[in-house]
Amino acid sequence: MSPASSAGRPTGEGTLAGGEQGVVPALGAIVMAAGLGTRMRSKVAKMLHPLAGRPLVLYAVDLAQRVAGRGVTVVIGHQGDRVRAVLEGRPSGNGRPRSVRLVEQGQPLGTGHAVMQARRALAAAGEAEAAAYLIMNGDTPLLAERTVRELVAAHARGGAAVTMLTAVLDDPSGYGRVVRTPDTGAVARIVEDRDASREEQRLREVNVGTYLVERGFLEEALDRLEPRNAQGEYYLTDLVALAVARGLAVSAVPVPHPEEGVGINSRSQLASVELVLRKRIAERWMDAGVTLHDPDTIRIDADVVIGADTVLHPFVTVEGRSRIGEDCVIRSHVRITDCRLGDRVVVQDGCVLHEATLDEGAAVGPFAHLRPGAVVRRNAKVGNFVEMKQAELGEGSKANHLTYLGDATIGRRVNIGAGTVTCNYDGIRKHRTVIEDDVFIGSDALLVAPVTVGRGALIAAGSTVTEDVPADALAIGRARQVTRPGWAAKRRAMQQEAGSGARGQRQGAGGRASRTSGAGVTRKKGSKAKAGRNKKKKARGRG
Ligand code: UD1
Ligand code: MG
Repeated sequence: MSPASSAGRPTGEGTLAGGEQGVVPALGAIVMAAGLGTRMRSKVAKMLHPLAGRPLVLYAVDLAQRVAGRGVTVVIGHQGDRVRAVLEGRPSGNGRPRSVRLVEQGQPLGTGHAVMQARRALAAAGEAEAAAYLIMNGDTPLLAERTVRELVAAHARGGAAVTMLTAVLDDPSGYGRVVRTPDTGAVARIVEDRDASREEQRLREVNVGTYLVERGFLEEALDRLEPRNAQGEYYLTDLVALAVARGLAVSAVPVPHPEEGVGINSRSQLASVELVLRKRIAERWMDAGVTLHDPDTIRIDADVVIGADTVLHPFVTVEGRSRIGEDCVIRSHVRITDCRLGDRVVVQDGCVLHEATLDEGAAVGPFAHLRPGAVVRRNAKVGNFVEMKQAELGEGSKANHLTYLGDATIGRRVNIGAGTVTCNYDGIRKHRTVIEDDVFIGSDALLVAPVTVGRGALIAAGSTVTEDVPADALAIGRARQVTRPGWAAKRRAMQQEAGSGARGQRQGAGGRASRTSGAGVTRKKGSKAKAGRNKKKKARGRG
């Protein structure tokens, strides 16, 4: 189910009765995303760290938007402008803007303080009041939508002031512990790790940081939070004890899988959550009919789309918003970032593809580098050690070996010979090369842009093309070959003669002969005039 497909379908106005998929109409949501994330030890705010290619904050916000019918308020603070840009830069789903209300928390004085800012902003804006709020930490990306819906349903059934998600973890350190009354087992309060006694620290049931709170109680309780704890912060978790003190019910819903409750505070948690997410993504694509050979070595970002019967070999990375069609084969050690691949595309081993488009039946690699703006049309082929940038290779065309195609438009059925280079840069500006349909470019050609090679033309191997070539013409831009019969044999003889002299005197006359250029040998034979004639011919470009 795509995030957008379920949004915007109310399931019973004015109640918390949520359907399986639609938004819950009377539910508002607040996502806390303003914290410093100190334990990440990063210059980048925790909420911006990518997880399977998406900034962390999007996991909670997208989930809240799928569930809460009365809109989502996100509390931002640390590097808030960048978090705002991420949230506002999301593509809209199903034609609707996926907007959220953003509220600034000036100083990160705790999760309770964060929610206070949201409440104040909602009241000031005269927002239609929700019956209850889903309040979420922004750092719990493994939480399943199903679990949050279960939380909403449990809250609707139970009539508690606060319903919260809990998880039983093997290692609960760092989390707030759920303290229950011994005789009844009812939730009494949450104690943060830093404030917990030895005994409390042994408790393995932890607060996940996702709550359903009645609006009336939330308003009243927020005013009563106090920063009396080890961190001097306003803890949202104190709502639980406040509710209990008022004789209101608090209920806890366990997450079905403990991993759902993992919050990301450190790099190590980031890494372990990433592993779980990647495994889930791999499973999802295998279920959808994609073959993954050795899936543990394959990395597919969260927003990638892959068609059925495509085969990914070990150590393939597909990043960003890449789209891969059906029946493609991606061999090992390939990185594909923000690319579009049609059906039946083959990418051989060791390629790097970034913002490139490969149409149906295209073949690339091994060891090709397609940079932004590279376009390989239907059934075209890019071979080994070929680099492309802002260049289109037309249908059925081939650039099979050792080539650079930059700022070029290449038509259909063109052959680009081995070692061809489009010389696109004059030191100041970039220029385009245009090669029309059915052109044959011989090996080792240099095309000095701006230049156009007309339809059906032929460029001789080794040419440097600086002027436009008309259709169907032959262009040769290279020195004419000089062949001297017997020359090599004579040189060998001279070398042998020199070598048979004193070996210790290699620097003498014999040694010089062995290093002498061809022209020198020729002149020795007395053909000075002929050598001069050849030189002139070359300079006129007729050679
Ligand atoms: C919090 C809970 C803890 C729970 C754990 C689950 C509190 C006091 N503690 O601890 O009981 O077990 O989550 O992962 O709530 N934030 C703000 N403004 C702030 C502080 C935090 O917006 O001033 C945001 C953060 O960006 C983050 C979330 O609130 O998304 C939680 O903050 P964090 O510092 O990670 O709290 P934990 O120590 O993990
Ligand atoms: Mg946390």
